[in-house]
Amino acid sequence: MTSKKTFYVTTPIYYVNDVPHLGTAYTTTIADVVSRYRRALGEDVFFLTGTDEHGQKAQNAAEARGLTPQQHCDELQQRFRDAWTALSISNDDFVRTTEPRHARVVQEALARLWKQGEIYEGSYEGWYHTADEVFVTETEIDEKGLDRAKLVRVSEKNYFFRMGKYRDALVAHIEAHPRFIRPEHRRNEVLGFLRKDLGDLCISRPKSRLAWGIPLPFAPDFVTYVWFDALLNYVSVPGLYFDEARFARTWPADLHLIGKDILTTHSVYWPTMLLALGIPLPTTILAHGWWTRDGAKMSKSVGNVVDPLAYAAKFGVDALRWYLVREMVVGQDADFSDARLRSRYDGDLGNEWGNLLSRTMTMIGKFAGGRIPSPEHEAGGPSEARDAANALAAALPAHLDDVALHRIGEDVMGLLRAGNRHVDATQPWKAAKDPANAGFVRDALYTLAETLRFASSVLVSILPTKAPEALRQLGVTDGAADLRAALRWGALAPGTVTAPGAVLFPRIDPPAA
Ligand code: MSP
Repeated sequence: MTSKKTFYVTTPIYYVNDVPHLGTAYTTTIADVVSRYRRALGEDVFFLTGTDEHGQKAQNAAEARGLTPQQHCDELQQRFRDAWTALSISNDDFVRTTEPRHARVVQEALARLWKQGEIYEGSYEGWYHTADEVFVTETEIDEKGLDRAKLVRVSEKNYFFRMGKYRDALVAHIEAHPRFIRPEHRRNEVLGFLRKDLGDLCISRPKSRLAWGIPLPFAPDFVTYVWFDALLNYVSVPGLYFDEARFARTWPADLHLIGKDILTTHSVYWPTMLLALGIPLPTTILAHGWWTRDGAKMSKSVGNVVDPLAYAAKFGVDALRWYLVREMVVGQDADFSDARLRSRYDGDLGNEWGNLLSRTMTMIGKFAGGRIPSPEHEAGGPSEARDAANALAAALPAHLDDVALHRIGEDVMGLLRAGNRHVDATQPWKAAKDPANAGFVRDALYTLAETLRFASSVLVSILPTKAPEALRQLGVTDGAADLRAALRWGALAPGTVTAPGAVLFPRIDPPAA
């Protein structure tokens, strides 16, 4: 008997020192939406996020607060857990790199690589960027315009991973697997990077300079370079070396979601580490773009960083999730603006969806005794809405495979717009005046209710509170669970008792000018 492969989706693990911000909230939200869709379609999903806790920044920040690094991290990681709870994130696990279940795998992997001769002792002489914890060359200092005041000259013994040796194997893998690095322009970027010589990777830091890390098992005066440690979270949690059955069911990851700033670490360091360890590579690494704020880069010093929790408090979590999913074409950059968020709220959610729901509820109340009417023609007969719903259902799996979540959002809006046009075209309140039109009215109302049921079922994964609420008003109480069954036009049972409720998206007062 073969057990089913789990769909395994990851976010980066976030630096514990930073507060959860729009960028980290975005990556986590799209991972959540993908996970919810896959679960609703009947897949086993494992959705992992967590915190990256070792390294210089955590050590320095802890010292400045008079705490041990562990105390500091224990406190700060909670902000991520709380933020994800507040944003309706349904992660299956939360990993901290300071946990023994992770550290023991890092040590085991290092021990194996050392034994295999994949790690060697060498010396490093050159510039070290303390804040970023990386060694930099003269060329990089010039190219990136690095501040020399932040660089220290070091000359020290270190340990190196033979990364360069895997360059050709990695290029061959990327070329043979078009979906390994996505989108296409990022794949080309990585191939371009690999055209140059690929050096070896320094994977240690002497304890004298940085103590807050996982000790190298073969050289206890050194700790593991924070990226080498952090990347291994993707295999430590599903059980590498410690739970073979679970690891076989879960690995390889189907989808590593990352931001474009961490493309090289994920598509060069990580796969070469896996190749050296003899572990299969992940199926897809997908890099999304960058959120800017009113056209400018977000930064703490400018003070224009978006706090997702403040927006969730004002517009509701679901509205923020909708905005993030709908506004960013996955892979491209997008601009966060209050005006855009407000217009998505008023337009998409308030007018197209919420309004259609309340109008339909009112009409079903008046003209059908509060029950879903029995249509005269099969499922309300042909309509633009029915066609839009069927097209949406057909396109959904491919959109999901492409993580084209904005396309799912567009398709749902197209369906709801068709529903709104159906109201205008059929005008049930006028037709109802003549009893001879009873069948026509029942068809029209059925079509509207079915449009809303269909659209709301698809929206459950993006708006996990509001969409089930819309379904409840339609009398559908179990519609959220099985999306496959819900994606069939005509599934709404005539006679279902509706339960009209509160307006889904009440007006929010504009900010005082
Ligand atoms: N700790 C590493 C990742 C290790 S994974 C093995 C790290 N952490 S981070 O806290 O800096 O978070 C990085 C994530 O936040 C990336 O996916 C990054 O792209 C995302 N974002 C940070 N600012 C962003 C924007 N302004 N816009 C979109 N995402 C950005 O890197």
